[in-house]
Amino acid sequence: MKKRRIAVIGLGNLGRSCAEALLADPTLALAGVVRRNPAPLDWLGDIPVVGHVAELHAVDAALLCVPPGVVLGMANELLQRRLPVVECARLHGDAFLAHKAEMQRVARLRKTPAVVGAGCDPGILSLFRNQFALLIPHGHTRSSLHVGTSLHHSLAAEGIEGVGKALATELKTQDGRLQRYVYVELEPGADAAAAEQAIRQDPLYLDEETLVFPVESVATLEETNRGLVLERHAAASDAGHAALLLEARFNETELAARMMLAAARALPQLQAGAYSLDDLPARVLWGEQGTSAEREWI
Ligand SMILES: NC(=O)c1ccc[n+]([C@@H]2O[C@H](COP(=O)([O-])OP(=O)(O)OC[C@H]3O[C@@H](n4cnc5c(N)ncnc54)[C@H](OP(=O)(O)O)[C@@H]3O)[C@@H](O)[C@H]2O)c1
Repeated sequence: MKKRRIAVIGLGNLGRSCAEALLADPTLALAGVVRRNPAPLDWLGDIPVVGHVAELHAVDAALLCVPPGVVLGMANELLQRRLPVVECARLHGDAFLAHKAEMQRVARLRKTPAVVGAGCDPGILSLFRNQFALLIPHGHTRSSLHVGTSLHHSLAAEGIEGVGKALATELKTQDGRLQRYVYVELEPGADAAAAEQAIRQDPLYLDEETLVFPVESVATLEETNRGLVLERHAAASDAGHAALLLEARFNETELAARMMLAAARALPQLQAGAYSLDDLPARVLWGEQGTSAEREWI
């Protein structure tokens, strides 16, 4: 199968992650990089670095990785050339809707597809928030970033059979209750469920709701120590007391790049117009692997 050739516009943090992801991708190829001051870069090998997209050969789509203030102007220029675009400028709420409407107008005028807000946030985290609210329509959402200082080693958890190292942190829920999060590095062959239950039943942890998350390396978590807890709780009047929780640790730029590549895979299946991730089913984001993804994940 011929790889679709994708250009990266702007080589800052996100542009670099996109270029690296494209170099490693089995279905997409990096056609080249467009920069304000182009010069060859060793790590790109023979991939061209140019000052304008017109200098690149056979480009199928472009990933816009430039500041939000210049995204619209650049998208307009690319769409005029009938080049489909993907971007993920940090815009939310009304500003995002206004931006999408303008992209929609231009994309339809140029008869070319564009995907907007296809990053991490906006992007995949927007999808999670949206679906949590869809499943618990009457309730509240709380989103909190982990901070390094809140993590401490938990000797109580480390004393439990099967647990190597453990870090704990406490977070407050919207209604003021304390919840404890315990991250555990399990010893090889340890029974995760048994270790989790033992931690929850430890007298030290009985007084508060305790959530246990096995991780590969507590040391890595301590170093990067970036993550997000997204919670959605049903309103107090809801007798079912439903709650959904996403506990995530990730590199935001890498996740945004991954989402942009997924959006680029969707482009050949899209009519002219601007799409947000809300408009795109997962099978379209999988590109040609849509059917096998549906078989595996549905
Ligand atoms: N949704 C998400 O999760 C998410 C995550 C990260 C970033 N973003 C978005 O991605 C975009 C890039 O973010 P970033 O963190 O990579 O920023 P960055 O590190 O500042 O990189 C932006 C790059 O754009 C180019 N650039 C800067 N000013 C420009 C101008 N006036 N005109 C044209 N090009 C210009 C530069 O590349 P050259 O020097 O190579 O020309 C610069 O390195 C932003 O729109 C940001 O909001 C979204």
